[in-house]
Amino acid sequence: MILLGVNVDHVATIRQARYRDETSNHGGFIEPDPASLAWLAEEAGADGITMHIREDRRHVQLEDVQRYQEKMKTRLNLEVSLATEMVELALSLKPESVCLVPENRKEVTTEGGLDIISNMERSRDAVRAFTNAGIPTSMFIDPDKKQLEASAEIGSPWVELHTGSFARAWYDEKRREEELNTLKEGMNFGLSLGLRINAGHGINYHNVTGAKELNQVYEFNIGHSIISRSVTYGLTEAVKTMRRLLND
Ligand code: PXP
Repeated sequence: MILLGVNVDHVATIRQARYRDETSNHGGFIEPDPASLAWLAEEAGADGITMHIREDRRHVQLEDVQRYQEKMKTRLNLEVSLATEMVELALSLKPESVCLVPENRKEVTTEGGLDIISNMERSRDAVRAFTNAGIPTSMFIDPDKKQLEASAEIGSPWVELHTGSFARAWYDEKRREEELNTLKEGMNFGLSLGLRINAGHGINYHNVTGAKELNQVYEFNIGHSIISRSVTYGLTEAVKTMRRLLND
């Protein structure tokens, strides 16, 4: 069975669109609440929850993570950049796993995988710090052999393959096949190196039918499409449907 991690960052994105610059606490009523939606996703069958605290805190806030952790039922996969301050923050929050991601302040969401080869020592230090704390790390990388080798070399037990190029190519049959093959090769190469393979970014209710051909992927982390569908059908339906489509 392929597991489903639900990324609730986009709940925070909606909230920050309204409340970001305000000084009032609105009587404590600030919506929507990422922690509440994360709990609801868990009830609907999410196998885990992902949150990304960015260096500039523009979406998920520290309090969102702490609030979620108070009543969490599954596990927290915390995404952070390689910045020392973020690694220390992640260590202090003791999540069940950490996904190390690139950050570029201008992007709306995470675009492109981490370049471990250009950040070898910083990546190695971060992985070591999390390993010493008993927290497994996942390197968010493109399905590139050199990045996979580098992930294994620095001792990260998991990687998360960036599925963004595949998702963008989905409506072009030829490119879709090419991108899926690249992901399959990356998945198999990663497995041969002993890595656990997660995947995510841009997976939606259409392209999931292709993505699930990556049947050795342990877990898909999916956010935008689930939160978007929940506007129409509710989060429970959105999570259940994605879980079913992943494993049909
Ligand atoms: N995996 C990682 C590492 C991410 O940063 C994100 C969010 O950009 C996702 C998965 C989920 O992507 P999406 O919101 O497009 O489903």
